[in-house]
Amino acid sequence: MANKSGVLHSLMLIFITWMGNMRCCAITVDPPEDLAVLDSGRLGQMQITWSPPSCLTKMTECRPQYQLEYFNTYKNNWEILRTPSRTYGAQFDPSKDVHIRVYTILNGECTNNTMIMSENCTEMILKPPSTGLLGTEAKAFICVYHNMENLECSWTRGLKTPPSALQNLYFWHRSLDQAVECPSYILSGGVRKGCNFPGKSLPEFTDIYFCVNGSSREGPLKATFFSLQIQNQVKVTAPDKLHLQTSSDTELEFHWENPTGRLPAHCLEWEVRHHHVGAEGKISLNHIHTEKPSLTLPFSNSSKRNCFKVRSRLNSYCVDQSFWSDWSLETCHPDVDSRETTLGREMNSVSIYIYIAVVIIVVLVVCLCVWAALNMRKSGPQKKVDSLLPKLLTNNLSQRVSKIYSGKKTCIDVVI
Ligand SMILES: *[C@@H]1O[C@H](CO)[C@@H](O)[C@H](O)[C@H]1NC(C)=O
Ligand SMILES: *[C@@H]1O[C@H](CO)[C@@H](O)[C@H](O)[C@H]1NC(C)=O
Ligand SMILES: *[C@@H]1O[C@H](CO)[C@@H](O)[C@H](O)[C@H]1NC(C)=O
Ligand SMILES: *[C@@H]1O[C@H](CO)[C@@H](O)[C@H](O)[C@H]1NC(C)=O
Repeated sequence: MANKSGVLHSLMLIFITWMGNMRCCAITVDPPEDLAVLDSGRLGQMQITWSPPSCLTKMTECRPQYQLEYFNTYKNNWEILRTPSRTYGAQFDPSKDVHIRVYTILNGECTNNTMIMSENCTEMILKPPSTGLLGTEAKAFICVYHNMENLECSWTRGLKTPPSALQNLYFWHRSLDQAVECPSYILSGGVRKGCNFPGKSLPEFTDIYFCVNGSSREGPLKATFFSLQIQNQVKVTAPDKLHLQTSSDTELEFHWENPTGRLPAHCLEWEVRHHHVGAEGKISLNHIHTEKPSLTLPFSNSSKRNCFKVRSRLNSYCVDQSFWSDWSLETCHPDVDSRETTLGREMNSVSIYIYIAVVIIVVLVVCLCVWAALNMRKSGPQKKVDSLLPKLLTNNLSQRVSKIYSGKKTCIDVVI
């Protein structure tokens, strides 16, 4: 009996499995199998592979497609794509979880031209390796592409990075076979704090992946990963050749140039800082945004002074983001600050008064001394002991006074 029911049971199982397969290939479909991830040693470039569900291997009229979903840790979102291929290369931040899902999709004759996607997916979550000393990650990583001519990346050390640690920077992009080390480190106090990429060593409009890792006597440092496209890191050199002039009684014309380089002129935009001093010394500050390297402003002869500075950056039509340049030097109309000159004149008259006062005092003191000396000579040698003390005093005094006098005299000479 037990044997009979066992056979029946296994028959039932086979039947259920067969039904399941029918369901898989007719109305529903299973998710892919053998999902695997292979790290190619290129700073998180992973080869994801999978195979079709086993129920599909015998069906030749149906070519499955796959929907791949993975979490992009650099962009902080899920990337979703469809492909007939059984493999896909994607970039992951190896210091974070790798999270992947794959679905099977059937379409065409075998499904009577309706699209079917597997209800479930095959999923994989890979935890990052827990190597490296805690708190030794590089921080504040930033790259600046100076005038689109050379790229400079820098970082700061983690709080717990041992002083003996040696940090390395590696980078990779899709035209390279392997990760490459920084061509020229920037040192500060003997410690690596940045990397310089001279000339066109990195391509634009391509994701570049960076890794800062390192070793120390205490053990390996925790590696950190960054990704960017260098055209989004441009910092232009500050504008120069500023020209400011009145074109008529009522207009002020301001134009400038950016230092020439590889910069496409149509990609630049500017911010002008206008500092205006009005008739009653009223100060106003304006920031003007412009897409041309020139500005015409109404001008009234009642305003005392107009000063301008300008800075530039790449606009959002050309790149996703860019840094502002430094401010240019300031240029003003009129050129010389009238307030400063009057202030200067005031300062001059004050110092002349001081000199005159000093001269009068010195002359008075000298007269006093001469008078004292004459008095002493008149009083004669008989009062030697009595007059010794005052004599010493006056001698010292007159010496000191003559010194002061000689010092001041030269000053007076210069002034006169
Ligand atoms: C396939 O779909 C068409 C209409 O879309 C329908 O007329 C036909 O009966 C279907 N065939 C099968 C085998 O389900
Ligand atoms: C999908 O997965 C759930 C839970 O893992 C399971 O209960 C369900 O039967 C699966 N569906 C299919 C069609 O395999
Ligand atoms: C840093 O990363 C590079 C590239 O992956 C690797 O070749 C190198 O061995 C690593 N160095 C350390 C000290 O971990
Ligand atoms: C300012 O200009 C007006 C005419 O535009 C003129 O009448 C006036 O005298 C000028 N004032 C000064 C201080 O130059």
